[in-house]
Amino acid sequence: MADDTTDTKSSNQMWGGRFASGPDAIMEEINASIGFDKKLFAQDIRGSIAHATMLAHQGIISAEDKDKIVHGLNTILSEIESGNFEFSRQLEDIHMNVEARLATLIGPAAGRLHTARSRNDQVALDFRLWVKEELQKTEQMLTRLIAAFLDRAEEHAESVMPGFTHLQTAQPVTFGHHCMAYVEMFGRDRSRVRHAIEHLDESPIGAAALAGTGYPIDRHMTAKALGFREPTRNSIDTVSDRDFAIEFLSIAAIAGMHLSRLAEEIVIWSTPQFGFVRLSDAFSTGSSIMPQKKNPDAAELVRAKTGRINGSLVALLTIMKGLPLAYSKDMQEDKEQVFDAAESLELAIAAMTGMVRDMTVNTARMKAAAGSGYSTATDLADWLVREAGLPFRDAHHVTGRAVALAESKGCDLAELPLSCLQAIHPDITDKVYDVLTVEASVASRKSFGGTAPSEVRNQIAFWRARN
Ligand code: ARG
Repeated sequence: MADDTTDTKSSNQMWGGRFASGPDAIMEEINASIGFDKKLFAQDIRGSIAHATMLAHQGIISAEDKDKIVHGLNTILSEIESGNFEFSRQLEDIHMNVEARLATLIGPAAGRLHTARSRNDQVALDFRLWVKEELQKTEQMLTRLIAAFLDRAEEHAESVMPGFTHLQTAQPVTFGHHCMAYVEMFGRDRSRVRHAIEHLDESPIGAAALAGTGYPIDRHMTAKALGFREPTRNSIDTVSDRDFAIEFLSIAAIAGMHLSRLAEEIVIWSTPQFGFVRLSDAFSTGSSIMPQKKNPDAAELVRAKTGRINGSLVALLTIMKGLPLAYSKDMQEDKEQVFDAAESLELAIAAMTGMVRDMTVNTARMKAAAGSGYSTATDLADWLVREAGLPFRDAHHVTGRAVALAESKGCDLAELPLSCLQAIHPDITDKVYDVLTVEASVASRKSFGGTAPSEVRNQIAFWRARN
């Protein structure tokens, strides 16, 4: 229930001309969006100022009325910003709340503001402006997250850790390389954000209800005043389209998925069993019963926020699915999904940036784990190919026997005596021990995009130049 529940039986002051009585209380409740679309007040007022200025420029309203309107709208802006504005549910939404207040402030001139526009293009404008600003904010936040990872990657370009597949130790990698994997993911998210800004950079105002208008408006003028590249080209599409909101949610869902993978890794890495990282006190919590605990709650919540964001994406896709052109009131349900997802995404990126910056990396633990689980077995096989001329498949088999032997002796590959290795294959020499260390293993992987410290530094340099 919205806070304002006063029921008047008089018809709506904005559109009630053909109505004899006012709406049922339930009608009012289901219809009203002011409870959430008041968030759009700044965009609504900005749009109205641009529209009124254009109307006056085109001689559609007088300069005097335009001045009154602009002055009144600025007054309303400060009233709302300072918390001195009374929102009314009877006035449905932000558009009519602002216009009704304008009428109280400046009298009949207020009635001229809605010339050559409709709430359909008005809401499309307000919401686009809001989503555009949110995308710009997201772009900056992702840039900060990427910067945090670049710093950690630089610091740990040589720190060896186990790389995993199936969450089983696979091959040694560097922590810097692992950090750079996230830079790639969040870099793709950021370019999706940039594309989305380009896509939505068209001004809807002037499409009117759906068919355009007979007044001699200048849509290029309003587009420019509001910072859009150009006006939209089809008035029917303009008031029907919520692709920009769905695109925001899709991007949020993909970024959320990336954030949840990072969150999960942090949860795993910070367990005492792994002990790869220690979260700062600022980004962890204690237990009310178990004094020894330090819990990664923020990471867990980031993992969970992804569920909310996915829910919003599916909700809006479902709301829009099958709607006939042009505007339908269903579309009023777009805003809460986007507002909720935006809040979750912002929090998740901010929390992750903090965690990545603050966490202590236990390089000794990582290195010890990197060497266990026969992580350099591939290096032994590669050595047999390179130095003893074996086909890779045979080398794989020989190495498998060496691993089985080490396992039965309860030691690492590098701890097997040369005689044992030579019993498995006579061409093995003591040179083989050079490639069995984790440092030698990572240093050898210099292929483009590989884990060698030199290559990781190239990747870092690429991203630093790209920012
Ligand atoms: N509050 C409405 C919304 O958010 C504004 C547009 C209303 N348009 C209409 N034809 N009733 O969608």
